Amino acid sequence: MIPLGRRVTVKVPATTANLGPGFDTLGLALSLYDEIEATVREAPGATVTVEGVGAQEVPTDASNLVVRAAAHAFAAVGQPMPGLDLVARNRIPHGRGMGSSGAAIVAGIMTAKGLLEGIVDFDADLLLRLATELEGHPDNVAPALFGGLTIAWMTPEGPRHKKLIVHRGVSPLVGVPTASTMSTALARSLQPQSVPHEDAIFNVSRSALLIAALIQSPELLLQATEDKLHQSYRASAMPETDALIRMLREHDMAAVVSGAGPSILVLGSDPAQRLTAADLIARHATTPWECLLLAVDFRGATVVPHSQDAAA
Ligand code: HSE
Repeated sequence: MIPLGRRVTVKVPATTANLGPGFDTLGLALSLYDEIEATVREAPGATVTVEGVGAQEVPTDASNLVVRAAAHAFAAVGQPMPGLDLVARNRIPHGRGMGSSGAAIVAGIMTAKGLLEGIVDFDADLLLRLATELEGHPDNVAPALFGGLTIAWMTPEGPRHKKLIVHRGVSPLVGVPTASTMSTALARSLQPQSVPHEDAIFNVSRSALLIAALIQSPELLLQATEDKLHQSYRASAMPETDALIRMLREHDMAAVVSGAGPSILVLGSDPAQRLTAADLIARHATTPWECLLLAVDFRGATVVPHSQDAAA
């Protein structure tokens, strides 16, 4: 039984998935965070207060994704979900390809893990399985959970991951279009059922090279971020994203669609390169874009218990 008043704060990083060739496989955690404070209360059900991004649109009832993810985690380990007061402080943009839904899912699961501390153990494979069951693919939730660069893959026993530490020169920039969004479901509906064998080989070579580029040889990032499996199929749904990526790549910048878009990820091989990228975006974009100069997050989701409150 979780004591009334037990309170945890969960912090979850934004993520960028695919990284060009690593469709549904590679992801990177970024230094921009959503935060959830959860307090156990007597009355059943959950209240949600949302501050920051999505404060006007995010549902505050049982359909809230953080609440659903917490409920999924409690049910999976056979524990009743207590009544909860949740405060969400959101900073990750919604519908932009920065892992906001994955972050909400991870926040709910980590809330359950934090509140059940000392009662139930959640290991890494279980956390990843629960999050992937809700998200549908593991490439955002793996770095959101574990930080760094993650390789995620599916097995008959569930999703698995390997976390890697990227080369310290690697400097991400995310260009976020302030006025347009993209639904992951729509982006996925534009994908063909099958792809030419040579395109599959093309992506196998680039994604293998991308691991070397990210952990050891950032000078290879431009070639290593080439892709034939998803970006061209989705380009018509986000023409300005496509045009800016082409322009940036012509200037030797390793630019790709961030997740399902419409944001752009530039993987600079050093911090100065992304200043050049930000300048190029400012000069060529015909609609407003915000450039976020971010660091790689190496910790992933964290839970801080407020033990004094639990004792009160
Ligand atoms: N791999 C996913 C996609 C990431 O591109 O559809 C977006 O959630």
